[in-house]
Amino acid sequence: MTERKLYVKSYGCQMNVYDSHRMADLLAPEGYVETGEPENADLIILNTCHIREKAAEKVYSELGRVRQLKEGAARAGRRVTVAVAGCVAQAEGEEIIRRAPVVDLVVGPQSYHRLPDLLARGQRQETGIVATEFPVEDKFGFLTLPSIAKTKSRGVTAFVTVQEGCDKFCTFCVVPYTRGAEVSRPVEAILVEVANLAASGVREVTLIGQNVNAYHGQDRDGRACTLGGLLRRIAEVPGIARLRYTTSHPRDVDDDLIAVHRDLPLLAPQLHLPLQSGSDRILAAMNRRHTRADYLRTIDRLRGARPDLALTSDFIVGFPGETEADFAATLRIVDEVGYSGAFSFKYSPRPGTPGATMGDQVAEEVKSERLARLQAAINRNAAAFNARCRGLTFDVLMEKPGRLPGQLTGRSPYLQPVQAMAPRELIGTMVPVVITDIGTNSLFGVLADAPRIEAESRIVQSLAALGA
Ligand code: SAH
Ligand code: SF4
Ligand code: F3S
Repeated sequence: MTERKLYVKSYGCQMNVYDSHRMADLLAPEGYVETGEPENADLIILNTCHIREKAAEKVYSELGRVRQLKEGAARAGRRVTVAVAGCVAQAEGEEIIRRAPVVDLVVGPQSYHRLPDLLARGQRQETGIVATEFPVEDKFGFLTLPSIAKTKSRGVTAFVTVQEGCDKFCTFCVVPYTRGAEVSRPVEAILVEVANLAASGVREVTLIGQNVNAYHGQDRDGRACTLGGLLRRIAEVPGIARLRYTTSHPRDVDDDLIAVHRDLPLLAPQLHLPLQSGSDRILAAMNRRHTRADYLRTIDRLRGARPDLALTSDFIVGFPGETEADFAATLRIVDEVGYSGAFSFKYSPRPGTPGATMGDQVAEEVKSERLARLQAAINRNAAAFNARCRGLTFDVLMEKPGRLPGQLTGRSPYLQPVQAMAPRELIGTMVPVVITDIGTNSLFGVLADAPRIEAESRIVQSLAALGA
C-alpha cells in the first residue's frame, strides 16, 4: 500500500479533537500516516466549528492558504485532496464548495465513518462530494471498531465521547442543528475503549458530550445507565487514576451525579457548569429552562457533597434584550460563585437559530464593553482561587516535559497547569506537589516527596542500565 500523508486541523470543542483522532485511526488502514505539516500532506482535513461567526469564518481564511498548497503541489504533479468536516460542513454543506472550490469533499459529523468510501470516490476524479445526512447507522460502531483493536495512546490524558448531540435548543446555539439529536453510546463500548486507553498508558480520562450529563446509554442488561452510573463503572478500570466529564447542563445535574462527587475519589473536584447569564429574564429568553436560584441551589448541593469543588462556566454577553441591569446580575453571580475560571463570549447571531431574528439586538460596542468588564471579574476570581492554592499539596498527573530543562508539566485536580522540577520517568504518574508560586497561566511547585522520588528514579535508571 502506498503511504499517504494526512494533515488534520481541529477547531472548536473537544469533541472535534476526539473526532479528528478517530478519523486518523479510521484512515490508518488505508495507508494514511499523520503529519503536522500541511505542505507535505496528500489529504488535508479541516474539522470545523460553527458556534460563533468568527469560528466559522476562520475556515475560509485557512482554505485560502490550503488553495495555495494545493496549487503548488499540482504544479509539482502531486494531487492533494481537501476535505471540510465538522459543524461548518453540516451547517453549510455544498455552499462551502461554491465559496471555496478548492474543497473536494464536505463531510458532516455523523458521516465520518464513510470517509474511506468517500475518498475512494474522490480518487475516481469525482468532485464536489457532500455527505451531511444524519444516517441511521451508528457512527460510533464504525468509528471505534478499528480504533478499539489498537487504540493509539496520544499521551497520558484522553477524551472519550460518551454522548453526542443535544435536544435542549438554547435559542443562541447551533449545536442541535449541526450535531443532531442526543445519542448516548452503550456502556460496554465505552468501557472497552477506556480499558484500551488505560492499557496504552492513559491515566486520566475526560468523558465528553455536548450535554454529557444527559447521558443515558444502555447497560449490558438493556437498562439505561446515568452518567453517575457510568463514572462508577469507569472508575473500576485498572490503570485509570483520574476522571473528569464535560460539558454539563445545569438542568441535568441529578442526585446520583451529586452523590458520585461525594463517593468517588477518582472524580476530579472540578466541574464546568455553564450558566450563560445571571439574569432570569435572559435565561428564559435563552431557553435555558432554569433560574439563577436553581443554579445556585445546584451548586450548594454539589459543594455539600464535595466542599472543595472548583467551578468553571461559560457566559454570553449581549444576548438580544440584555440590559445593563441584566448584565449586572451576571457580574454579581460571578463573584457569588467564585469561579476558578470561565470562558466568556460576545453573543454572535447564528443563522437558523431563534436568537438571530429576535428584536433588541445589542450594539457591538456595548457587547465589547460588557465583555471587558466580565472578563475582569472572571480574572479577579480566578486569580483569587489560584492565590489560595499557595502552600497546598496537590496530586499532579505529570503529562510532558515543562518549559524549562528538567521541568515536567501536569495538571492539578482543579485543572490548573502545574510546573515542577522532576525526572522524566515521572511522566504518566500522579505525584504530590507543593505549590510554591502562582503565575498567570500556571502554578509552580516542588515535589512533596523529592528525596524519595529522586532516589527511586536513580534506582529505575540503574535498573535500566543493568538491562532489567
Ligand atoms: N453544551 C454546552 C455549550 C456548548 S457551546 C452548554 O450547554 O453550555 C460552548 C459555549 O459557546 C456555550 O456555553 C456558549 O457560552 C457559547 N456559545 C454558544 N453559542 C453562542 C453564540 N451564538 N454566541 C456566542 N457564544 C455562544
Ligand atoms: Fe447548545 Fe444549549 Fe445544547 Fe449546550 S445545551 S449544546 S448551549 S443547545
Ligand atoms: Fe463547534 Fe460543533 Fe463543537 S459548533 S463547539 S465544533 S459541537
